Amino acid sequence: MAVLREAVRLGITHIDTSDFYGPHVTNQIIKEALYPYPDGLHIVTKVGALRDAEGNWPPALAPEQLRQAVHDNLRNLGLEVLDVVNLRVGGSDSPTPGSIAEPFTVLAQLRQEGLIKHLGVSNVTAEQIAEAQSIAPIVCVQNFYNLAHRIDDPLIDSLAARGIAYVPFFPLGGFFPLQSDRLKAVATRLGAAPMTVALAWLLQRSPNILLIPGTSSVAHLRENVSAAALTLSEEDLAELNGIAS
Ligand SMILES: NC(=O)c1ccc[n+]([C@@H]2O[C@H](COP(=O)([O-])OP(=O)(O)OC[C@H]3O[C@@H](n4cnc5c(N)ncnc54)[C@H](OP(=O)(O)O)[C@@H]3O)[C@@H](O)[C@H]2O)c1
Repeated sequence: MAVLREAVRLGITHIDTSDFYGPHVTNQIIKEALYPYPDGLHIVTKVGALRDAEGNWPPALAPEQLRQAVHDNLRNLGLEVLDVVNLRVGGSDSPTPGSIAEPFTVLAQLRQEGLIKHLGVSNVTAEQIAEAQSIAPIVCVQNFYNLAHRIDDPLIDSLAARGIAYVPFFPLGGFFPLQSDRLKAVATRLGAAPMTVALAWLLQRSPNILLIPGTSSVAHLRENVSAAALTLSEEDLAELNGIAS
């Protein structure tokens, strides 16, 4: 709760969550910490998976499961309408090709019913994005991307050209936080923490990138937010761009 309150105090207006985290607990903590929500705060959630008793994330893409998930998010966040809902498909960290029309149509219907303002997709291929767009407008794509994992480079550029936000998940490496001597060297030169530099690199990578680094620590939160004020030089960028190759 301290992290959430400090994030809002620092001017953060975008929080990423899901009701299947916990399950339920994460949204309940967000509500306890921040409700009634300040004007301009956007809580973005995702549906399409479950947290089972063994701690796995099996898909939950049947129409009734998706409806239930949207209602669970509304109830646990204390909202009447969700700002943005991502349809999360694919494996644990990479997309699985194939049609997403059926589950995305369910979310498009829930949007028509007024329970969701905007839709996004997560863990998807370019083809799945195009398929979703043929059903309803999408405002964001949330995929695995960071300094060391750049498979989505062409996708980011094409989404930027179309005015769609790209929201990298695992921006700091997720369960395996980024470790790189080059990153450390640039950070030391700039007098910043390596994770701050990794986030500044993402912000400079493309204007449509929105950041959702996860942390349980107020100190890390402050370091992460400070990335917005860090400008990387051409030399810094060239060195950092070499990490993925
Ligand atoms: N759509 C999907 O399929 C999907 C999948 C995975 C994740 N996500 C989303 O992606 C977002 C980020 O995910 P994530 O939190 O798993 O990954 P992440 O942001 O890449 O990494 C979080 C890890 O980095 C550490 N960390 C954060 N700030 C740090 C700092 N300044 N210095 C050192 N370590 C730092 C955290 O530890 P501390 O707690 O100690 O700071 C934590 O271990 C979340 O909103 C999540 O919902 C989406």
